Amino acid sequence: MREHHPIYEDEQGVWHVFCYEDVKEVLSNYAIFSSKRSGDIEAYDPISASLISQDPPRHRLLRSLVSQAFTPKAIAALQSRIQEITKELFHHLHESASPDFVKQFSYPLPVIVIAELLGVPSSDQERFKEWSDAIVTGSHALENGEEITYDNAQQEMIEYFSQIISSRKKSPKDDLISRLLEAQIDGEALSHMDILGFCILLLVAGNETTTNLLSNAIYTFHNYPDVWHQLKANPELMDQAVEETLRYRSPVQNMSRLTISETVLSGRILPPGKFVVAWIGSANRDDRVFPQANEFILTRTNLRHVAFGHGIHFCLGAPLARLEASIALRYMLDVDFQFVVDEKRSELINSNFVYGFSRMPLE
Ligand code: HEM
Repeated sequence: MREHHPIYEDEQGVWHVFCYEDVKEVLSNYAIFSSKRSGDIEAYDPISASLISQDPPRHRLLRSLVSQAFTPKAIAALQSRIQEITKELFHHLHESASPDFVKQFSYPLPVIVIAELLGVPSSDQERFKEWSDAIVTGSHALENGEEITYDNAQQEMIEYFSQIISSRKKSPKDDLISRLLEAQIDGEALSHMDILGFCILLLVAGNETTTNLLSNAIYTFHNYPDVWHQLKANPELMDQAVEETLRYRSPVQNMSRLTISETVLSGRILPPGKFVVAWIGSANRDDRVFPQANEFILTRTNLRHVAFGHGIHFCLGAPLARLEASIALRYMLDVDFQFVVDEKRSELINSNFVYGFSRMPLE
């Protein structure tokens, strides 16, 4: 597509953008490409009311407020806890008679971390998984054969978090929700709906992405055993390996925008009011920017990928995702983890939005 149809309008009138520079333009030029994709439904849809779906000036205000609670210091403070959780989960994975890297490691790690950060019980992680899967893929099949839809998941999350927010209002704790309630700029604070939207966004963003980064890294090391050996000899290259994994197998494949006015992008005229899908996964494989883009190259010098987006919406959780991946994968090097992925029984997530595995049995 990058070569023959770099900008493509499909039968539904949705525009798709595939090349690196165009993707960066769509993600960052908010004056033309708006993040307010859902019109006026914000009144009852907390994700659409959250910062990922806002343009300036509202986005600037929300981002500044949540950044007061979601600080680099708060993330760095999680380091030793992430190490502990890693050790515990790895022990279970290692001892398991039927190890599955997703089920026993890459899924629970980010969920436990995000639940502890928010101050909600991580014992509710099964429900978190059902909700976030339903939000990302539109629905999620439960073990009893029933199905949870996007709308049900959203409603259940609203009830769940509303209760916790009200309780923190009465008696604050040392957690992110309590800090969000305290955050203020020029006397302006976050509303109940803002906090609700942010909690739901964090739960979904924290669940569906870092899991995929971890499994994508393991799958890549399985395919490139020499890279794993190189890392064993040079563990300090792990952060570089995480960045190259983000580029090579991008956990978030696309983000969309809505055109506010007519614009010209690489010579094509895009009308106003059109959905534009910026294909992050494709931009990160653009070989005019990343030579031999279809290869995983540990020593690549240009790692300016767009896996975490570009511009004002650049992922707020990037430092946390990087910290979790670095700690978990460094630990596996330290304990000399020997693994072979059972490729036949591994399954990709059925989504063109997130890229990763729903199952990854190890031999
Ligand atoms: C935004 C990817 C992990 C929270 C974004 C965006 C991308 C992204 C591409 C930009 C959205 C846009 O331009 O419309 C990823 C990837 C992750 C990851 C690949 C893991 C490997 C996380 C985590 C959290 C998080 C762990 C929080 C716990 C957010 C938030 C935003 C965001 C709050 C919205 C920022 C804004 O609109 O200003 N992420 N994310 N992400 N991410 Fe992440």
